Amino acid sequence: MTAFVDLAARLAAEPADAALKDVVLTIAETCAQISRVVASGALSGSLGAAGSTNVQDEEQKKLDVITNDMLSDALKACGPVAGLASEELEEVEPTGRVGGYLVTFDPLDGSSNIDVNVSVGTIFSVLPAPAGHAPTEGDFLQPGRNQVAAGYAVYGPQTMLVVTLSGGVNGFTLSADGRWLLTHPDLAIKPDTAEFAINMSNQRHWAPAVRRYIDGCLQGKDGARGKNFNMRWVASMVADVHRIMMRGGVFMYPWDAREPDKPGKLRLMYEANPMSLLAERAGGKSIEGLNEILDINPAKLHQRVPVVLGSANEVEVIRAEMRAG
Ligand code: AHG
Ligand code: MN
Ligand code: MN
Ligand code: MN
Repeated sequence: MTAFVDLAARLAAEPADAALKDVVLTIAETCAQISRVVASGALSGSLGAAGSTNVQDEEQKKLDVITNDMLSDALKACGPVAGLASEELEEVEPTGRVGGYLVTFDPLDGSSNIDVNVSVGTIFSVLPAPAGHAPTEGDFLQPGRNQVAAGYAVYGPQTMLVVTLSGGVNGFTLSADGRWLLTHPDLAIKPDTAEFAINMSNQRHWAPAVRRYIDGCLQGKDGARGKNFNMRWVASMVADVHRIMMRGGVFMYPWDAREPDKPGKLRLMYEANPMSLLAERAGGKSIEGLNEILDINPAKLHQRVPVVLGSANEVEVIRAEMRAG
């Protein structure tokens, strides 16, 4: 039986601040608890709608609320955390402490999959907190390059945690006795792919560049791309991005004409930025169309952004289409 390194031991080897490691360990422990609630499903009465609407104007699921409260409570009790922000909370929440770190999170990603037993996840992002004063919303509005840690948990056939602090991207699998064990060290996204992920039902609403790119993929090996493409769409960003971490691919949630005043569906601060840091650290790329997502200066806490993320060479093919207009 292989002896696996656990998360705490792997973090100990990272040249990162001990307080930051405490924050990541707190999030990891909470994700382990969330995985048990997710796995219990109907048995714990955690499926179905909460009967409330969040700031995104989405019908909340019970698990959106339960997991949000679990992470908020854990982070409020974690010394180095000065403030938190969540997909499920309209305002940022200072903890009463100053300095240390800010955490943004999507407590339950893929909510539409909860009641049909398809993989869901948790996404988190850690930013430096301001020194000398309690954090306000403006202190959270930092570009993704400022992140000092980012990661996700995916609650699937295995529960896994994928995280980056100061260096590479490492994957951990939750053991039966509740330990995160290093099973996928130094993850790297393959630079080329023949697999794209997009919600095809929106095809008639896409901008011309996106339609040209997908049409090109669908022409198969006799077409301009010279290869047959496969398609996947889980509708949990965490599951789609995890697949790309494991075998390459490109994930797209572009602008579409259904809500033309919105740049896309996904949220910058707790979906696109953490996933973009992971993607770039694993040798992939992540753009909003022409420019890197990590370079965006946020204007609003819950702002949305188009996302094209994954295998570096395929992202460049899409960027070229976007440049062509
Ligand atoms: P959330 O459940 O946190 O609101 O996020 C859902 C997001 C993302 O996980 C996924 O990629 C996307 O919504 C799926 O959107 P469609 O249902 O429009 O395909
Ligand atoms: Mn989400
Ligand atoms: Mn969510
Ligand atoms: Mn949601």
